[in-house]
Amino acid sequence: MISPHTQEYDLLYDTHAHLTDSAYAATLPRLLEDARLAGLVAINVIGFDAATSRQACRLADSHPGFLYATVGIQPNSAAAAAADDWDSIVKLATDPTVRGIGETGLDRYWDDTPWEVQQDYFERHIVLARRHDLPLVIHMRECGQEIVSQLTPHAAGGPIRGVMHSFTGDWSLCKQCLDLGLMISFAGMVTFKKSGDLREVAAKVPLESLLVETDSPYLSPEPLRGRRPNEPARVSHTAAVIAASRGMSPAEFGEATTANAKRLFGVD
Ligand code: NI
Repeated sequence: MISPHTQEYDLLYDTHAHLTDSAYAATLPRLLEDARLAGLVAINVIGFDAATSRQACRLADSHPGFLYATVGIQPNSAAAAAADDWDSIVKLATDPTVRGIGETGLDRYWDDTPWEVQQDYFERHIVLARRHDLPLVIHMRECGQEIVSQLTPHAAGGPIRGVMHSFTGDWSLCKQCLDLGLMISFAGMVTFKKSGDLREVAAKVPLESLLVETDSPYLSPEPLRGRRPNEPARVSHTAAVIAASRGMSPAEFGEATTANAKRLFGVD
């Protein structure tokens, strides 16, 4: 299906998609074509463990100038990581396709990984990102203050380059993340009927710190909620909702958030 927003956007950037998911095994070429038709100029392919990080690099390598990789071990995958998986991430960090470190972060919702192990892996990602001057891609679920606490000492060395991905916190938490130097990215949840509070947060984020994403294959935005798997082209719906809440045209919004993403991820 061609996006209904084809005419509205010249520029859009899906900053977070798990295109290595098996859901796309047969549909990837069509999905990428639909993304271009919807106005997307780039998509970040996000690794969540050593295997998907390697796949993300391969995928980005075969679509230069359109797909970019980020590499990392997501907190819920950290417990299952083999001893040498972290070494793989460290090596991949210098791959020319890589534009970010993550996803990483902390998660209090799922109980897959002991808390100390999550904190240890988060710390490794923070240090690795700083070493290579790459942005962090941060996952947060029900642990906003713990994320801020762990990042704060690192902000002593200057603003933290990175993004809070699929942000769902309140304004107070958002403000703390902005103060650390982070950008804020919103996914499909901001379009849901009951997400009025989140839309208010999205409307208050300074324009130069705002990003959009799909977090594909998860959580399709309205009016496609429940239609699985989600796809990068659908970021147009999320962008339209936030643009409306800020009184901007979709085209202006797409242009501004794409410029932000290019700046953060070092994409020309
Ligand atoms: Ni993700």
